[in-house]
Amino acid sequence: MIIEWDERFSLHHALLDAQHQELFKLANAAQRLDPNNANKAELGRLFKEFYDYMAKHFKEEEAYMQSIDYPLLEKHKKFHESIIEGMTKILKEKKGVVELQKSIQMIAKKWLAEHILENDLQIEKWRKSITVTDEDLQGSLS
Ligand SMILES: [Fe+2]
Repeated sequence: MIIEWDERFSLHHALLDAQHQELFKLANAAQRLDPNNANKAELGRLFKEFYDYMAKHFKEEEAYMQSIDYPLLEKHKKFHESIIEGMTKILKEKKGVVELQKSIQMIAKKWLAEHILENDLQIEKWRKSITVTDEDLQGSLS
């Protein structure tokens, strides 16, 4: 199942949104390989790229959470840790092409899409709650 990034996933943060888009792209590229003709090395390379990009992205997302004093930072880091652990396990299992594609599909759905909707969007909620808008300013001046 291919999931494309759309506005529902937006954190209104240019860098993090671009990274999420790239992660969807990598997961989808791996899923689109025809399992009958797919070269195992090619799939392995895509998975490794997906894994490395996920790890790099988590670091940047954590830095962002820290920069806005996000109160659930530690809890959120734990989610990231367990995703990386799960991906490391899959990486070590040396699965066949079909199995590996299935795992990538699961990661894209649960650890990417659902994680963004359930956890990352909470960061955006927090950011909004601490951002002073023009309207707030006008209210306080009148
Ligand atoms: Fe996250």
